[in-house]
Amino acid sequence: MSRGFVTLAIILLFSNLILGALSGSFIKDFDITWGDQHVTMLNNGKLLTLSLDQSSGSGFKSKNEYLFGKIDMQIKLVPGNSAGVVTAYYLSSIGATHDEIDLEFLGNMSGQPYILHTNIFTQGQGNREQQFYLWFDPTANFHTYSILWNPQLIAFYVDGTPIRVFRNLESKGIPYANNQTMRLYGSIWDAEDWATQGGRVKTNWTAAPFTSSFKNYKANACVWSSTKGKSSCKPESASTPKFQWLSQELDSSTQETMKSIRQQYIAYDYCLDNNRFPQGLPLECTITS
Ligand SMILES: *[C@@H]1O[C@H](CO)[C@@H](O)[C@H](O)[C@H]1NC(C)=O
Ligand SMILES: *[C@@H]1O[C@H](CO)[C@@H](O)[C@H](O)[C@H]1NC(C)=O
Ligand SMILES: *[C@@H]1O[C@H](CO)[C@@H](O)[C@H](O)[C@H]1NC(C)=O
Repeated sequence: MSRGFVTLAIILLFSNLILGALSGSFIKDFDITWGDQHVTMLNNGKLLTLSLDQSSGSGFKSKNEYLFGKIDMQIKLVPGNSAGVVTAYYLSSIGATHDEIDLEFLGNMSGQPYILHTNIFTQGQGNREQQFYLWFDPTANFHTYSILWNPQLIAFYVDGTPIRVFRNLESKGIPYANNQTMRLYGSIWDAEDWATQGGRVKTNWTAAPFTSSFKNYKANACVWSSTKGKSSCKPESASTPKFQWLSQELDSSTQETMKSIRQQYIAYDYCLDNNRFPQGLPLECTITS
């Protein structure tokens, strides 16, 4: 059933191609989901800001639904004392057995480092947290955060450098994200109970509003039309340079780069947390490829 669906999804993928590879306008491509008073769109919709104060946070979501894509967004995070504040950027489907690919930026006290918290849910199951320090100050400038999601793998990139990969291990019985369409979301909210130094440092509201900025959203993606019941991607597109990402794997030099970045910057890895999984680490942690 699931195998059949995957085959179908791949056939659909190849059945009609358009795509949204344009560096878009937030006005055209997104809906505000929450806290309208706390969202601004500037420069004809090319720049979007989300703010948080004691009354509300805010968020947006893409109008399009995707089934696979390479998504880039440039983000500049809340400067100064951002303790307790989380800025999130993620792909998600809906429902109890949803799939989700998460990047959450955990704020900190002035001068202390942000953490980039990542997680992956497949068929409603997450618990796959990995956290990273960044090798730059993410509040000083915009940096590019990317998600590659294709039938083989999910990878996270920071300024083009891969930091994490989750492979399709369906053949080993681990559910993969390949039969539910996802939208792209952005949001900012208060998470003082857990985000900063394990929840010890709370949000200091005298510094509010807290504002993060987003620009240059690019979705080189297969757009799902629910009215037509099909994807914008088609077979011949898979062999074109624009769609190389659909069959992309991480070559060995890219894997080396990732390994060295992880050695330097990883802050937490569920795959190393034996205490948390006394019955044994999740299966995907034990499969080396
Ligand atoms: C997706 O596949 C899983 C099994 O891998 C199945 O449980 C689920 O019902 C499928 N969802 C849809 C929408 O087909
Ligand atoms: C905040 O700074 C402290 C001290 O440098 C560090 O331990 C922590 O990992 C940083 N990040 C977060 C989100 O707590
Ligand atoms: C909150 O920030 C204000 C001004 O930035 C500062 O004076 C105050 O001491 C801070 N409060 C706490 C609890 O750190």
